[in-house]
Amino acid sequence: MLTFNIHFIDMVDNTEIQRRRTFAIIAHPDAGKTSLTEKLLLFGGQIQVAGAVKSNKIKKTATSDWMEIEKQRGISVTTSVMEFDYRDYKINILDTPGHQDFAEDTYRTLTAVDSVIIVVDGAKGVETQTRKLMEVCRMRNTPVIIFVNKMDREGKDPFDLLDELEEELMIRVRPLSWPIEQGIRFKGVYNIYEQRLDLYQPSKQVVTEKVEIDVHSEELDRQIGKPLADKLRGDLELIEGVYPEFDVQAYLEGHCAPVFFGSALNNFGVQELLNCFVEIAPSPRPVRAEEREVRPEEQKFTGFIFKITANIDPNHRSCVAFCKVCSGKFVRNAPYLHVRHGKSMRFSSPTQFMAQRKTTIDEAYAGDIIGLPDNGTFKIGDTLTEGELLHFRGLPSFSPEMFKYIENADPMKQKQLAKGIDQLMDEGVAQLFVNQFNGRKIIGTVGQLQFEVIQYRLLNEYNASCRWEPVSLYKACWVESDDAEELEAFKKRKYQYMAKDREGRDVFLADSSYVLQMAQIDFKHIKFHFTSEF
Ligand code: G4P
Repeated sequence: MLTFNIHFIDMVDNTEIQRRRTFAIIAHPDAGKTSLTEKLLLFGGQIQVAGAVKSNKIKKTATSDWMEIEKQRGISVTTSVMEFDYRDYKINILDTPGHQDFAEDTYRTLTAVDSVIIVVDGAKGVETQTRKLMEVCRMRNTPVIIFVNKMDREGKDPFDLLDELEEELMIRVRPLSWPIEQGIRFKGVYNIYEQRLDLYQPSKQVVTEKVEIDVHSEELDRQIGKPLADKLRGDLELIEGVYPEFDVQAYLEGHCAPVFFGSALNNFGVQELLNCFVEIAPSPRPVRAEEREVRPEEQKFTGFIFKITANIDPNHRSCVAFCKVCSGKFVRNAPYLHVRHGKSMRFSSPTQFMAQRKTTIDEAYAGDIIGLPDNGTFKIGDTLTEGELLHFRGLPSFSPEMFKYIENADPMKQKQLAKGIDQLMDEGVAQLFVNQFNGRKIIGTVGQLQFEVIQYRLLNEYNASCRWEPVSLYKACWVESDDAEELEAFKKRKYQYMAKDREGRDVFLADSSYVLQMAQIDFKHIKFHFTSEF
């Protein structure tokens, strides 16, 4: 009998890419991000009962909070990844720090997702942090779905809320579900997307019942009573009149955000959100490298590092670099090119995550996030390929809000301090600027807490002590100009306030908004950028 050796050609399985949904949930602290994440994990079978996330004290003592300092403070500092299967889809949720002092971390995470769910507290509406995060989504045209949470509490009028969302988030909205009353009178939502009535039973464990219903039928009157049924019909008519038909393409291009209403705590409206999400949210999208656009279905593996985090495993003081797979298939132990170092590397223990549990994986596809053990070889933004010299576009740095001089507090540990600062900056913990006038190092952060984290980590991980000294600055602006002479003149005039960032770019450290305005008026041919990606 003849036997055949069958050789499979190693092609990327497009169905694997199509079924992936990689996204982040973003919210102002307390809007309900943890509660929503927990319910999504429940549907994915990752946890068995609701309440598990909190009763296991993930939030307080932190299975998703990796650093000791977070445990002490009970806030989530770093970003973790959770993955699960739902229906035929593979879902990757990138968790983001709840605390606003770590917003920079969230901004970076947003560069690794294909879409976003924004949670808004129905009573509080759009809050500062949500506004800022939405700015980042807008910069990248990230598709956004909005979940209005806490409908079991008294909140704003839903129509007013839609106006507020449009105005404050600067995006068109389109309700795909509609609440029937709220607070103690909350009856449920009409699911416009699936044309169904979902009646509310407060329950943290059970998924509520749904009734297929024609809004014009008497059945609706029977279910919720005639006055509410008439009001709902009126509201729906108004919605149809005011808001154009939901357009998936406009959503995918980041121009229109579908809106759902519900209660994450009571697991109400969450599955509807998830069902719609998996159907309309994009599978991995092409990623722009400096050289060309990289498509997810390309056969060869490419990926970039968007996050480096220390101490995931408290028993081993190692770092993990999070790599977003942009194309092809990542295979364990295969040789890949670390483009910045021009060096080939193999990874014998790449991991995937479920909060603190991590498992070694053999392969990963575009859209997946893999953890690569790191001992200082990676920097945020590094690219891995099968040999091509690609550079994924730099991740944006935003002007920090707070600045301090960092000084050595232990003369014997100068080297340790320099190394520690270097590595923490590689991880993207904060931004470093070197003042060109006096050579002093300035650390820029989004919030006070980051300074404390840096000091704590320098001591605990690098055995180095630092001291902070005040410097009064308003903003750091990256400056550039086509007019070399004017740029030189500006640098001369502002020599005390000129600094270099880690990439050697010119940064103007403005000490007040007035000074910045005057500089913009006096030097018309200089562009002042508030992000490093321009
Ligand atoms: P976050 O991650 O965005 O910070 O929010 P989180 O889910 O932790 O929720 C913040 C608070 O809001 C929690 O209350 C949570 O129980 C509550 N919450 C979340 N979703 C809903 C909802 O749909 N309805 C109502 N009524 N409350 C909701 P807490 O008192 O801070 O914590 P806990 O004591 O409940 O654990």
